[in-house]
Amino acid sequence: MEEKIALFTIFGGTGDLARRKLYPSLYRLYKKGFLNKKFAVIGTARREWSDEYYREIVLDTIADLTESKEDALEFASHFYYQAHNVTDAEHYSTLKQLSKKLNDTYQLEDNHIYYLAMSPQFFGTITEHLKDQELISDTGFNRLIIEKPFGHDYESAATLNEQIRASFKEEQIYRIDHYLGKEMIQNISAVRFANTIFESMWNNRYIDNIQITLSESLGVEERGGYYDTSGALRDMVQNHILQVVSLLAMEPPIELKDEAIREEKIKALRSLRIYSKEEVQKYFVRGQYGASTVDGVTSLDYREEKNVAPDSTTETFVAGKVLIDNFRWAGVPFYIRTGKNLRQKGTQINIQFKSMPLNLFSDDHTEALEPNVLTIYIQPTEGFSLQLNSKKIGPGLETELLNLKHKNSAETSSNSPEAYEKLILDCLNGDATNFTHWDEVAQSWKFVDVIRDTWDQETPEFPNYPSKSMGPVCSDELLEKDGFKWFWNPKSN
Ligand code: BG6
Repeated sequence: MEEKIALFTIFGGTGDLARRKLYPSLYRLYKKGFLNKKFAVIGTARREWSDEYYREIVLDTIADLTESKEDALEFASHFYYQAHNVTDAEHYSTLKQLSKKLNDTYQLEDNHIYYLAMSPQFFGTITEHLKDQELISDTGFNRLIIEKPFGHDYESAATLNEQIRASFKEEQIYRIDHYLGKEMIQNISAVRFANTIFESMWNNRYIDNIQITLSESLGVEERGGYYDTSGALRDMVQNHILQVVSLLAMEPPIELKDEAIREEKIKALRSLRIYSKEEVQKYFVRGQYGASTVDGVTSLDYREEKNVAPDSTTETFVAGKVLIDNFRWAGVPFYIRTGKNLRQKGTQINIQFKSMPLNLFSDDHTEALEPNVLTIYIQPTEGFSLQLNSKKIGPGLETELLNLKHKNSAETSSNSPEAYEKLILDCLNGDATNFTHWDEVAQSWKFVDVIRDTWDQETPEFPNYPSKSMGPVCSDELLEKDGFKWFWNPKSN
């Protein structure tokens, strides 16, 4: 195992993301030997913390993962805290001194990873200061990891990008979309490019429609303040869902390396049909959850959630039909849906193949056979299934459905590295495959902006779906109009 060498500077070092994801991921990398002696972490935030206190917090976040106390203490000893006001130039000089010191102590070869795990409004300010106060080294590598959201529309994203690009080159920027770190999202390429039976049929001659569902069973919980200004379209569609669409729709890359894959993803995103207002009204629907009581458990109305406006028109559910205007996909709808407070937590992709031209198993040959459906289970279950028709055992020629299933065992799934762990390791390796390039961000915003603009001109009648359902009726109608239905329809418990 090759040891990676770097100084991590985490802006937002006291925050939720750092505690829940970053420190445990760094620890796992440490346990696996990717990080060993030559790494250090500076946590920065406004609060005045000592190194000791910071290390206590870090130890707390990895408590469930540690087997030996010495080991955990050794790991935490690489962590340093620096109180920091991101707008104050002087603070960057202090940060620089600490960086230099740690660089010498741990022999870090001037390799820097700057992780912006905080409010995006400061991204531009921070990167500008990092450059002006000369924290970007000439000798080692300088990589910038940025959390979402990257802008709230195309224009704001472009402005932010310009600000950041004044200090970092595109190839130094790692825009996080944590879905790209998920095991089964990375498996989409294997399903497609390692299996003749699928790739040869991966087009509009054989596929009828593709369905992508990112269903969440929780409401907005503590994040009402952020979510109410964002909504499901910006929170989930612009990034995660369109990334999944691009991986499913792209042409085979010439190799499975970052530039080659990215080229194809960008081409796929460029082929998305940007809708007119009329098309938005036809092809996209939204919803907001209302109160409900299921199995004795009562869920709040979205408008009653903490930090949500009592007359909020923010959507907590989106379903839509995405069209890709290229030779491979012309005429194949990609149906997408995502929502909060739905019946079940689960992410899955259903690829529905075209039905047989006629049904030899029915008397008049007209009653359609069930289609073959390939399902990729992303989470919480990881695996695949393939729905097939088979002859029922016994006399006659009646058919029945059977399902070939492979599910990763609980042990495999629990041992598969967490998304953040993989993404941090990718960044240490200088591999940007599973991060979002600016061209992808730009194209996704262009697609989403017209939907947002159209919706912002009308007042929706919310709430329109009860919590713990699978969304509003208009979501089912969207597919019914085309003669389809949602393949995944989890029943209530
Ligand atoms: C985040 C969104 O990007 O993804 C959240 O901001 C959402 O609102 C989360 O809950 C879902 O991620 P996962 O990995 O739980 O599907």
